[in-house]
Amino acid sequence: MVTAIPTCILSFGLLSTDLTVRVSQIDTPPMPRYFRLSLPHQIMEESIAMNGGDGPYSYTQNSKFQEAGSDVAKVLLSNSIKENLQIGKFCDDSNQEPFTIVDYGCSVGPNTFASIQTILDSVQLKFKTQRIKSKKPEFLVFFNDLIGNDFNTLFQALPADRKYFAAGVAGSFHEQLFPKASVNFMHSAFALHWLRKVPDEVMKVDSVTWNKGRITYVRSPDEVVKAYAAQFSRDVEAFLKSRSMEMAEDGLLVILMPCRPEGSAPADSILMQVFECLAYTLGDMAKEGIVSEALVDSFNLPIFIPTASDVKDLVSKMGCFSIEEVEETYYPPKLSSPADARLTSSHIRAAMEVILSKHFGSEVIDELFERYTAKLFEFSKTPAFTRIEKLENLFMFLKKNAVSE
Ligand SMILES: C[S@@+](CC[C@H](N)C(=O)[O-])C[C@H]1O[C@@H](n2cnc3c(N)ncnc32)[C@H](O)[C@@H]1O
Repeated sequence: MVTAIPTCILSFGLLSTDLTVRVSQIDTPPMPRYFRLSLPHQIMEESIAMNGGDGPYSYTQNSKFQEAGSDVAKVLLSNSIKENLQIGKFCDDSNQEPFTIVDYGCSVGPNTFASIQTILDSVQLKFKTQRIKSKKPEFLVFFNDLIGNDFNTLFQALPADRKYFAAGVAGSFHEQLFPKASVNFMHSAFALHWLRKVPDEVMKVDSVTWNKGRITYVRSPDEVVKAYAAQFSRDVEAFLKSRSMEMAEDGLLVILMPCRPEGSAPADSILMQVFECLAYTLGDMAKEGIVSEALVDSFNLPIFIPTASDVKDLVSKMGCFSIEEVEETYYPPKLSSPADARLTSSHIRAAMEVILSKHFGSEVIDELFERYTAKLFEFSKTPAFTRIEKLENLFMFLKKNAVSE
């Protein structure tokens, strides 16, 4: 029986020196309306979490774009299992081991359950089509996410009619989370673009890589882009290395994640442009004295959107997996009407509110996202939007080559 040892990371309030004071009555223009004393705050993965619960800004209610992305990739996932899965020891009547599946970066909400169901249906179909007479194995599914994830909501929403044992494993997928050679099928959707941390270099005040006044690398000098790309490479390597340790014989790994067009500049990703609208909104609020400029200067998103080749090159360089299939899928973003802009804004709020609140204070969030909605709608009318008007995802199916110790 496979036993998972949940990783437990203690998370202390990062901003224990924070003090938020409403100062709108004071008539001194440079003083921000929400004045917050805080230390420069580098976002680390321990503080990443999607909005929990099932309220209007929860990830549960605001993950339709990820759902659409998974729907587009569903047939690729089923076919890849059909063509690549070796059921080996599970044909043997004496086998007592469960078929183990992990969803890395599951979050809350319906998407993880839908992906698990697709995997399960496809694996079971494989057993059926190979006319295996022996007893089918039991299925064990682990839902993995960071410690800040709302696992309570996740487990309350588990499908009542599920045909698998379920468990949660809290911890970073940049580390080994399961015993050696214990996982048969690995899945990760819309999670690998989240970095382990904002790169150290972009936090170095007054250095060439200091990302002052920006929150992404879209309008940054090359040095900043390189720092983000290097962090992404280190993180993907750590992810692959950990998965290669955990993967059982004949195991498979599916990665679905946002990417940008081949050969395009790092800024040419619609998703990064959508995040950049948040930077413009925060910039406006700083200019109007609503939030402090220093806080905008010290805030950066721990996100990088690669090309498919970037990821392929990393996999090849690591050598522990062979690439069985790579596809890029597309669907249109929703911004072009005020209602669409609001929907996108709520999706971004569901993903970013936790880290934004920690940095700027929860009292700015409603106003920030009201303004952000308007900014997104304005952006949809610009040539920059029409030039790259599609959301692009990378689907990658990997098999293990050898264990890398
Ligand atoms: C956008 S959600 C995607 C959720 C789900 N897979 C889906 O398709 O809707 C990304 C999730 O990845 C998680 N995540 C980010 N970095 C992680 C890490 N290092 N380890 C585990 N989970 C991580 C986040 O906490 C978040 O819940």
